[in-house]
Amino acid sequence: MNMLNYCYPFNFKAIKAFVSLGWLVLLVCKPVLAQAPTTELNSITRQRISINKDWRFYKYDSIAKADDLIYDVRPKIKEHKDDIPADAKPTKTVNVEAQQKVLKPWILPTGNDFINDPAKRYTRPDGNPGDDFPFVQSNFDDSSWESVNLPHDWAIKGSFLQGPNAEVGGGMGRLPSPGVAWYRKKFNILASDEDKCIFLDVDGAMSYAIVWLNSKLVGGWPYGYASWRVDLTPYIVPGGENQLAIRLDNPPNSARWYPGGGIYRNVWLTKTNPIHVGQWGTFVTTRDVSEISATINLEVTIDNDSRDNATVRAITQIFALDTDGIKTSDAVAAFAPLTTTVAAGEKTKVESSVILKNPRLWGPPPTQVPNLYLAVTTLWQHDKPIDQYETRFGIRSLRFDPDAGIYVNGEHIKLKGVNQHHDLGALGAAFNTRAAERQLEILREMGCNAIRTAHNPPAPELLELTDRMGFLVMDESFDVWVRKKTPLDFHLIFPDWYEQDLRALVRRDRNYPSVIIWSFGNEVGEQYTGEKGAALAKRLYDIVREEDPTRPTTSAMNWAKPFMPLPDVLDIISLNYQGEGIRQAPEFEGTKRIHTKPQYFAFHEQFPDKVILSSETASALSSRGVYLFPVTQKISDIVRDGSGGDSKLRHVSAYELYAVDFGSSADKVFSSVERHPFVAGEFVWTGWDYIGEPTPYYESRSSYSGIIDLAGFKKDRFYLYQSHWRPELPMAHILPHWNWPEPVGKITPVHVFTSGDEAELFLNGKSLGRKKKAQYEYRLRWDDVKYKPGELKVVAYKNGQKWAENVVKTTGEPVRVEASADRSEIRADGIDLAFITVRVTDKNGLTVPRANNPIKFEIDGSGEIVATDNGDPTNFVPFPSHVREAFNGLALVIIRSKPGNSGPITVTAKSPGLKTAQVVVISR
Ligand code: GAL
Repeated sequence: MNMLNYCYPFNFKAIKAFVSLGWLVLLVCKPVLAQAPTTELNSITRQRISINKDWRFYKYDSIAKADDLIYDVRPKIKEHKDDIPADAKPTKTVNVEAQQKVLKPWILPTGNDFINDPAKRYTRPDGNPGDDFPFVQSNFDDSSWESVNLPHDWAIKGSFLQGPNAEVGGGMGRLPSPGVAWYRKKFNILASDEDKCIFLDVDGAMSYAIVWLNSKLVGGWPYGYASWRVDLTPYIVPGGENQLAIRLDNPPNSARWYPGGGIYRNVWLTKTNPIHVGQWGTFVTTRDVSEISATINLEVTIDNDSRDNATVRAITQIFALDTDGIKTSDAVAAFAPLTTTVAAGEKTKVESSVILKNPRLWGPPPTQVPNLYLAVTTLWQHDKPIDQYETRFGIRSLRFDPDAGIYVNGEHIKLKGVNQHHDLGALGAAFNTRAAERQLEILREMGCNAIRTAHNPPAPELLELTDRMGFLVMDESFDVWVRKKTPLDFHLIFPDWYEQDLRALVRRDRNYPSVIIWSFGNEVGEQYTGEKGAALAKRLYDIVREEDPTRPTTSAMNWAKPFMPLPDVLDIISLNYQGEGIRQAPEFEGTKRIHTKPQYFAFHEQFPDKVILSSETASALSSRGVYLFPVTQKISDIVRDGSGGDSKLRHVSAYELYAVDFGSSADKVFSSVERHPFVAGEFVWTGWDYIGEPTPYYESRSSYSGIIDLAGFKKDRFYLYQSHWRPELPMAHILPHWNWPEPVGKITPVHVFTSGDEAELFLNGKSLGRKKKAQYEYRLRWDDVKYKPGELKVVAYKNGQKWAENVVKTTGEPVRVEASADRSEIRADGIDLAFITVRVTDKNGLTVPRANNPIKFEIDGSGEIVATDNGDPTNFVPFPSHVREAFNGLALVIIRSKPGNSGPITVTAKSPGLKTAQVVVISR
């Protein structure tokens, strides 16, 4: 037993406090089903305190100038190349031996709870590296350091690093995310907390976090996407001020996209009694689920961090939650009380089940409702409550059918999914619940029902949202294993940390009903290493199954074929692009790059018992509102200059027919998924644009693959997906815009996306013909329209009946700016956001589609401007700028409330020569 993980002895003062607070009443009745005053009890037995506010932050000018309190040495980088094609073959690890003192031996023990074999756990060496370093001392004067609140992304404010030899290139988003930085914070601990266990819970810090408290090295965690805990208890000074110092070290060339930098997710202090429910210490599973009844199983892990053996009783009640997350006043069920003895310094698991009658099931809208429940577990010792722990969960049945896909509560649900990176556009990696909710809302409007967290653990709050909103989630842990994709990526820590990172992810996320599939890899290099790679996959697979035997497990494959050993290991076959076939154009004949015939049938034949899905499809590219000519006659084409692309402008045509070399248009994917009805569905690459990986133009800052641009504006593709994914929604959408200065009479193809089955197009009232979708056709195209200014109108039909209309008009010159907020009221908590869309319009209020007028934003009242954007991947104006030009008629300004400051917030958008716009948002 490592003494450093040991809490101070249990003190009976705490018990006296409970008694004096009237808990005897509870003890006498101890009514299992009666209402328990959980919140009050919770604050006595356990506290989870947000410590996001008021940190001091310092980042070294350069990595070369940073201190040497490093986790480990890293290989030297020979070339700063970050435009490696996404599907390039991963390469071998370069091993380096440390010639200097490194802190890794002191950090590794932090993960001990996630290493199953006790013999493999780490013992902390003697000594306290760094204890004499000024930044960890409580008397160090950090007043000149920047004041920041968390979540904080140190790189998002820019500036963008431009040019071909920039230190951070397009791949990582041209923002200064690499570097070494420190965060410091003082906090008080009451003298009465002297007998408590005090943990620091970090939801995510990018990356190689090392924590000191009161100048003592506590521990740390290298993987930037992991959520982790260090035990501060042995270093706490009760009854006084405590100094926390966290060092982060974000390597260059460590990602294929923008990772962000800093403590970019929430941070908490958790206080418990020495005997308490362990970290992520409950596991709720459900079986025999129907609308009549469900069996709910609960495992509770109890940690005894005291010096005495303890006999503990665990009582768990279940409450229903309403749509606002408020629990019913009365419990709807309770588990039989469990009594167990936990040895000092040990953990014990107790398990019990209960049958719930008439459960309200969790399932994806629109056909189902994402109902949630809350299990409230109270630990009792000597008839006194010593801990209370809440677990949100849902009751649902999942069935994976190799011939049809996925059934949720008996209903066949086709995956209409998207991949999402963790960044939130102009807000960067710094997590914000409202920003993530907005992403999901817009995806939902499109008909999306599933998210893949490409390619790493998401913020826990994202899964709270997917639970509440009813999205299905493929929860993914890694982009690389031992073989590397970039010189300093996760492969450097994989051998030491894969078990801890994987167990931590599954333990954290296994109670979210929205999580339906675990993925432990994406296009990993081990696809290429035969039996060896498969053996490693099996090791990872077993870890996931040990932590959660209820969900299927997979790893996404862009290269492995049915006859190779890796897919054999997996429960689900997840294909990236292979279903449609990769690089099938004649120009790829004989290329060394991956080129593959369509693989759905081959995999289905080889694995008739496994569900097949596409974890990545499309990688179709476009710039919102940019239309380039000529337009390909194919249903899917690769981007080249003159074929959907313009490398000078660095834009890709929004006719939505062009994809990366290994990808396919949405139309082609729809057709291939429909032709293989056993396929469970798809996750499109990507739902939203993200920072970094601007294929095919690495001079840019952000991706082109999103269906929605970085600012949250819908590309035309949005309507293509909506027409296919929401067939019941009457809609029609015309592209392109109708503002062409070029000579009248030029051929300007018009395409229509509609959930109808046929449509008639009119130009200035004259019919250009009625067209019907053939089977496996998803758009209607009038490819020989001669441009004439005026009005394009489409009337769509379904089953012969009029179904929907859409009109696009040639606009006049820009005359004014118009602004509208996504919500008229936000919370005055200093966290909530409003997203304001600004349009440049003509005299009739029509958005001028090619307008790029500069707009200046001003704000008045109880809010502040956090960022602006316009969704243009080539735009290098820093995100915090209050001036931004419109991109194809649109710009976005993101405002945040000021804490505790109710009242109106007025945002003004001005542009020279145009009428000013104003919008008011109430902060309450
Ligand atoms: C895939 C990869 C994704 C992304 C995408 C871009 O090969 O898995 O992470 O890089 O390509 O098209």
